[in-house]
Amino acid sequence: MAFNIHNRSLLSLMHHSERELRYLLDLSRDLKRAKYTGTERQHLKGKNIALIFEKTSTRTRCAFEVAAYDQGANVTYIDPNSSQIGHKESMKDTARVLGRMYDAIEYRGFKQEIVEELARYAGVPVYNGLTDEYHPTQMIADVMTMREHSDKALHQISYAYLGDARNNMGNSLLLIGAKLGMDVRIAAPRALWPSDAHVQACHEFAEQSGARLMLTEDPIAAVEGVDFVHTDVWVSMGEPVEAWAERIEQLLPYQVNTALMQATGNPRSKFMHCLPAFHNSETKVGKEIAAKYPHLSNGIEVTEDVFESPYNIAFEQAENRMHTIKAILVSTLADI
Ligand code: CP
Ligand code: NVA
Repeated sequence: MAFNIHNRSLLSLMHHSERELRYLLDLSRDLKRAKYTGTERQHLKGKNIALIFEKTSTRTRCAFEVAAYDQGANVTYIDPNSSQIGHKESMKDTARVLGRMYDAIEYRGFKQEIVEELARYAGVPVYNGLTDEYHPTQMIADVMTMREHSDKALHQISYAYLGDARNNMGNSLLLIGAKLGMDVRIAAPRALWPSDAHVQACHEFAEQSGARLMLTEDPIAAVEGVDFVHTDVWVSMGEPVEAWAERIEQLLPYQVNTALMQATGNPRSKFMHCLPAFHNSETKVGKEIAAKYPHLSNGIEVTEDVFESPYNIAFEQAENRMHTIKAILVSTLADI
């Protein structure tokens, strides 16, 4: 293995270098092509991977499972209710148990400190499948998808993220773009910007990579000329339902609708979303919100017309979760 990724955890991307990230992107592309052409070779036969989910998931769980099975590994899914974690056993003890049985552990949960503690005591690689603060596996998929949908070199690609920018997606999109030398614009009300410490750290990465970082309260200024517009749910997993009222008031100007996409002035611009998305009132939550706020019945953070248009590449992005997670597993666990 050419880079120092073997046996490494993936907790936030804070400690991954630009070269390591580019290596993961290249390996993802190779593994995707191998699967498409029926030439995939299994590098993880006999490996066992634990998947801990303290929050719900569709994409991340399925991506880990399919990636592992494609590569010949076995997985154990541990759901939010059926283990001893948290209520009867600390993370430190859980880490020391699972580390003796498994070759690697995926963890989705709440505070970043928890996944850091797991990694400290497990003795095997730990992958952050989403915490309140970071969503690193999503980032490799997002950049892979941007690369696939642009003819530009990576450092020339520009993207904006609109919405709740102090959550896992906002923090992580700022970070990955800063590391890879990209043109990143974050648009949100000031109260929802990433922490000053995080912004400072990203500026330091940007100085080395040549990234251009913009934080603004002006959604129109943010999207000017961009290649990609990202958003995310306005209220994340783990937040109380009461948060919706204030969040809607704060974020309505940042809704991704057709006018906003046209404001990019870039006819090739695309829409991205980590999913799940509230783009109509057909889901349980979407319906409840629409009943209270009728002006959001056609979508909350993104409108139905954008979501169901050629702007939308969120399903390509979702597929790439699997290829990129496979690259993370192979690069950290395979004996090649
Ligand atoms: N994007 C993402 O992490 O989706 P899931 O919550 O379905 O895993
Ligand atoms: N910010 C969202 C991302 C979901 C993939 C959440 O944490 O719920």
